[in-house]
Amino acid sequence: MTDDRLWVEKYRPKSVSEIVGNAEAKTTFINWLEKGKKRKKKAVLLYGPAGVGKTALVNAASNQFGFTIIEMNASDKRTEKAINKVGKPATSYVSLDRFSVESKGNILFLDEVDGVFGQQDRGGIGAIVKIVKESLVPVVMAANDSDLKKLKPLKRICLLIRFYPVRIPLIITMLRKICLKENIEAEFEALERIACNSRGDMRSAINDLQSATAGKEILRLQDTILLKSRNKDVGMYDLLRGVFSAESVGEAATLINQSKIDYDEFLLSVSDNLPLRYTDPVDLAVAYNIVSRADVFRGRVGTENWRLLKYFFNLLAVALAVSPKSF
Ligand SMILES: Nc1ncnc2c1ncn2[C@@H]1O[C@H](COP(=O)(O)OP(=O)(O)OP(=O)(O)O)[C@@H](O)[C@H]1O
Ligand SMILES: [Mg+2]
Repeated sequence: MTDDRLWVEKYRPKSVSEIVGNAEAKTTFINWLEKGKKRKKKAVLLYGPAGVGKTALVNAASNQFGFTIIEMNASDKRTEKAINKVGKPATSYVSLDRFSVESKGNILFLDEVDGVFGQQDRGGIGAIVKIVKESLVPVVMAANDSDLKKLKPLKRICLLIRFYPVRIPLIITMLRKICLKENIEAEFEALERIACNSRGDMRSAINDLQSATAGKEILRLQDTILLKSRNKDVGMYDLLRGVFSAESVGEAATLINQSKIDYDEFLLSVSDNLPLRYTDPVDLAVAYNIVSRADVFRGRVGTENWRLLKYFFNLLAVALAVSPKSF
């Protein structure tokens, strides 16, 4: 049977030692975890760029040190109600089989909390502070945002642990290991190029390696030439230009996914620009139909289900690729 898993899943670190880089952040987090009741602060916030191992560290470390992770969505109203019960498994709505008798304790994990930072209508960062204060168990949070001003209210109640991009040589080493396991012979320059292009984002590097080697046993430098440079901060104008000149759904989706634009504004801008892309009225109608579905997803994402954003991104990307003629 062929294994068509994403390599980022297949090679997800199972123990702390498999997470490379950010040694200081790792040590600080593990020390905090191991301190138990002697912890000075009840909560930690791991923050830093995407794809560097924040979520991976929380999962690997709690698994390795025997803590039970209870993952909840910070922006979900139910979380507030549930947190008080997390410390008392018998009454919690979280299913009982997730609590282990041998567990050293439960830990509340609110991943990707930056989704709520700007959402003043939902209490924004204040809601998070409240969750931390009311929680009966230690709280671990992770965020991409490195805007210290926004994080300030958390500083008093949280141990802030900063993550940095993973260093290029460490990424190259990881890519080499994966190639070895996948029986792929890779030119050093090819791996170096993928690693440099990732700008310290291990997830993108592994994803790029997987797509550059698809169906190949040998990876040469020339196979990596088509990698798009990863631009961390794409503004609305560049993003629109990028997605409207993308040559595949995948490319458009990646661009949208990487940008930090206002999603509602982006949706409107895409709608406004569709008539420029599609001259055929049938294509245009199909594209508008898809955009309206994307809009429905945007509604469902709201401020609660950030995980649904990827469907929003993908639908918009599909709307831009209705007709190959238009590329
Ligand atoms: N430091 C690392 N060492 C080994 N693998 C890593 C590392 N960082 C990321 N990865 C790989 O990338 C995948 C995604 O990493 P992870 O989810 O931990 O990123 P993250 O920092 O939480 O990013 P985000 O801010 O986008 O949530 C992991 O499953 C793993 O395969
Ligand atoms: Mg994460």
